[in-house]
Amino acid sequence: MTQLYDQNFPHLSPVWSRIFPIEAERAEGSYIYGTDGRKYLDFTSGIGVTNTGHCHPKVVAAIREQAGLFLHAQINIVVHQPMLQLVEELRTIAPPSIDTFFFSNSGAEAVEGALKLARSATGRSAVIVFTGSFHGRTAGAMALTTSKTGYKGQSQLMPSGVYVAPFPYAYKLGMSEAEASDYSLNALEELLVSQIAPHDVAAILIEPVLGEGGYVPPPAAFMKGLREICDRTGILLIFDEVQSGFGRTGKWFAQEHYGVVPDIMTAAKGIASGMPLSGVFSRLDLMKKWPTGSHGGTYGGNAVAMAAAVATVRAMKEEKMIENSAARGIQLQTGLRKLQEEYPQIGDVRGLGLMVGTEFEVDGKYQKSKGLVKNVINAAEKRNLLLLSCGTFDSTIRWIPPLNVTSEQINDALAIFADSLKEAVK
Ligand SMILES: Cc1ncc(COP(=O)(O)O)c(C=O)c1O
Repeated sequence: MTQLYDQNFPHLSPVWSRIFPIEAERAEGSYIYGTDGRKYLDFTSGIGVTNTGHCHPKVVAAIREQAGLFLHAQINIVVHQPMLQLVEELRTIAPPSIDTFFFSNSGAEAVEGALKLARSATGRSAVIVFTGSFHGRTAGAMALTTSKTGYKGQSQLMPSGVYVAPFPYAYKLGMSEAEASDYSLNALEELLVSQIAPHDVAAILIEPVLGEGGYVPPPAAFMKGLREICDRTGILLIFDEVQSGFGRTGKWFAQEHYGVVPDIMTAAKGIASGMPLSGVFSRLDLMKKWPTGSHGGTYGGNAVAMAAAVATVRAMKEEKMIENSAARGIQLQTGLRKLQEEYPQIGDVRGLGLMVGTEFEVDGKYQKSKGLVKNVINAAEKRNLLLLSCGTFDSTIRWIPPLNVTSEQINDALAIFADSLKEAVK
């Protein structure tokens, strides 16, 4: 560590948990270079953000170019080319019915915006979320987050109007996908009779792949069932694609795996390769019901972040990163399944594209695997591979490399993981 680190790190708020003792000097592609001279294979991507790899040259060039023109021009005052270009690009990758776009800065902000939109559009107030959900840590988004009580600090009071239904987490429920889908849909129907009537519910909000809650893709039948319930009751369906969007799952958006289109969707993380940008995307008929001026912000749609997003989408298209995400995801899951045969502690390997989870258990219990997962992650870090955990009990290791990760880098990571498992399991 540098002297600068030693003198100033103690002054960073401890509210930030720290997973690794790494001070980054620079990063490129799939690698982070530390001030200690070490080169890390980064399979965290800044928590699913640097989907084009660190410092993609086209993204960096776009940022530099825009920075030379102007940094900021507030949307209420002027509109600018990068914003219009991004809308043009988004219209080629979002489902055709999602044709109207609002921009903000973080995932939590986008979720809050989506909910305000749903409430304005329906005149209803309640919202249904799912067990294991993570939607952010601002006051409103925190109230919609159920993956860990720890995300709420001392703010455990839920605002009224948030209802929680079971996510169809087949592995944890000990059910087949079809059974989990039925179980969760039935529970939701019951909730709509026993706890809150549909005519009071503005939205059902779900991550199309459960993220912080354990990297769990729901069964397609469940997602179709949600769409049917919403169509029948006038409840709006919101997909939180903050983590699963922008190629992460081998499609532009995870919803494409299920053939289900939401009424409203949120995006952030991968949208701008690391510049702070998020969005609420929806239909014009709904957006028109969002009273002008009732939402907004100083920085939303910042010109430099927008330029980075335009370059991100174009680079993903030109370099076929979505296709690579799908192919490398299969390679990764195949390798992990082989290791699963050797290590019974790996209970489940699952995921879509490069949003892959390996869930661990000890004596059939997820809670008990927390120490093991931590040991595996630490053993991998010793070998210069960065991995993160997720899940309510931190029982899952998640794999989120950049979408342009190479086949060799996947093999390198699998080899390091195998060695780390050997060390951690003993
Ligand atoms: C699905 C989902 N929604 C919302 C958020 C919150 O995003 P942010 O941390 O940018 O506020 C996250 C962050 O991990 C997320 O995964």
